[in-house]
Amino acid sequence: MLPRCAFSVCHVFVLVLCLSSAEDFDWTKNGHSSFHYGTFPAGFSWGAGSSAYQTEGAWDKDGKGLSIWDVFSHKKGKIQRNDTGDSSCEGYHKIKDDVSLMKELKLNHYRFSISWPRLIPTGIKSDHINEKGIQYYDELINHLLESKITPVVTLYHWDLPQVLQEKYGGWQNISMVNHFNEFASLCFERFGNRVKYWMTFNNPWSVAVEGYETGEHAPGLRLKGTGAYRAAHHIIKAHAKVWHTYDTQWRGKQKGLVGISLSGDWGEPVDISNQKDIEAAERYVQFFLGWFATPIFHGDYPQVMKDFVGRKSVQQGHGTSRLPSFSPQEKSYIKGTCDFLGIGHFTTRYITQKNHPSARSGGSYFTDRDLAELVDPRWPDPGSEWLYSVPWGFRRLLNFVKSQYGNPMIYVTENGVSEKMLCTELCDDWRIQYFKDYINEMLKAIKDGVNVKGYTAWSLLDKFEWDEGYSERFGLYYVDFRNKNKPRYPKASVQFYKRVISSNGFPNQREVENWRRKAVETCSSSNQLLAADPLTSHMEMVTEIVVPTVCTLSILLSAVFLMFLLRRRN
Ligand code: NOJ
Repeated sequence: MLPRCAFSVCHVFVLVLCLSSAEDFDWTKNGHSSFHYGTFPAGFSWGAGSSAYQTEGAWDKDGKGLSIWDVFSHKKGKIQRNDTGDSSCEGYHKIKDDVSLMKELKLNHYRFSISWPRLIPTGIKSDHINEKGIQYYDELINHLLESKITPVVTLYHWDLPQVLQEKYGGWQNISMVNHFNEFASLCFERFGNRVKYWMTFNNPWSVAVEGYETGEHAPGLRLKGTGAYRAAHHIIKAHAKVWHTYDTQWRGKQKGLVGISLSGDWGEPVDISNQKDIEAAERYVQFFLGWFATPIFHGDYPQVMKDFVGRKSVQQGHGTSRLPSFSPQEKSYIKGTCDFLGIGHFTTRYITQKNHPSARSGGSYFTDRDLAELVDPRWPDPGSEWLYSVPWGFRRLLNFVKSQYGNPMIYVTENGVSEKMLCTELCDDWRIQYFKDYINEMLKAIKDGVNVKGYTAWSLLDKFEWDEGYSERFGLYYVDFRNKNKPRYPKASVQFYKRVISSNGFPNQREVENWRRKAVETCSSSNQLLAADPLTSHMEMVTEIVVPTVCTLSILLSAVFLMFLLRRRN
């Protein structure tokens, strides 16, 4: 998720840090290590998530248009091992199978996203609506509801229609606001009688920074110092417009909620007695979560962003700030456009003050912040390079949201951990540990008074992990991508999460430890199934390649033989 340049900085600065220095925050009364046994409020919603491009496959089926990710992933050298999402988990063809997995987990909700180019192939509503795409989501929503699973729908999880990128420059162009609003209106019109939880955008930070500043994600543009701010500006306006559309045209009838899913790592000062570090850590969070949350809750960008980007822009000889500004009318239009806040959270960083002289750096989102990111080498990092397990950071981030934005209703929209590609080990006890500790910190945050209503484990299945391709697996269910049928196998964490859901939390130590033991015990039989899988693929090869080849050859030989006999007769 975080760009590599941030990590090189981070690795240089890896220090042995003093964990105990962070104990002083008054809302961490229980301390870092103590586990809190107890249950979640009644009605707390447990879910799992996915997104369209990461799981659906069927990239060119049934009239779907191209998205920027289809095009980007087909360019050589952009994705690990040149993987693509062309077929991914084949989710498009596996609605029933996947809903059964959710039923097995006893999920209360399922979070998925709608592919804009599957519904509107060019992205422009007046061009054409693809009814087959509508049918697919209709079917998915209906199956979920029949299974008593609430659909939680994201409208934009990064797959912009390619035509909009080519014609207008994608999120660099203000015209996206209206096109996105038309797409959202279509979704409200067709699905809103059954969908009551909508999110406009997923993790716009990534769209802006990785799509338009570092170019690691589609559309792969490197518009250093300006591209990310401009994309974010239009995204925030598009979000607000869609919220108003729902509010004025659909809410009365459909009675749903519209929010946004923002991602945020927690930033902890390296030295909590050093004012500069405290301010740097605050800046880290403001440039991350606050960049989007502050306009949505308070009408404008965080003051610290305006100050830092503004000052540096002037020093670099720009006439105005590289951070665009909202007019007074826009501010009041954007303020308050959030019925609930989705939070995607995975990890934490230690932060220290570090000056990036303006003239030399030439300006970029990263240097604008004047800070350095550090990690504690003792933090577990079982999968993705950027993902260290630091559960206590989750509680801090949730409390930050409470205090900064007036204790909004929160749904955790993403939280989870990956593993490395070659690991076909279904006994993921470290993932159990991650979920157990992070969910527990969320429970503590609720006890602190944070208004968290639901939790979404990321993700239901292993899937296409953007520029990392299939090399990082986040799933509760293992997907065998070598097999054309993409079979799913439960990891041990399925058993564990299932118990958390059925107990609505952590009843007592003895039980919770028992769950963990049992989960790890049962996974070895699933492992055997998976180990037998190459045999299944081999058998498939026999039926799909060897048998037809032998048949064709036999027919040909018989024909030749027949001709030979006939000739001899004549
Ligand atoms: C956030 C993104 O929304 C999601 O698509 C991705 O899989 C996770 N981060 C993990 O990198």
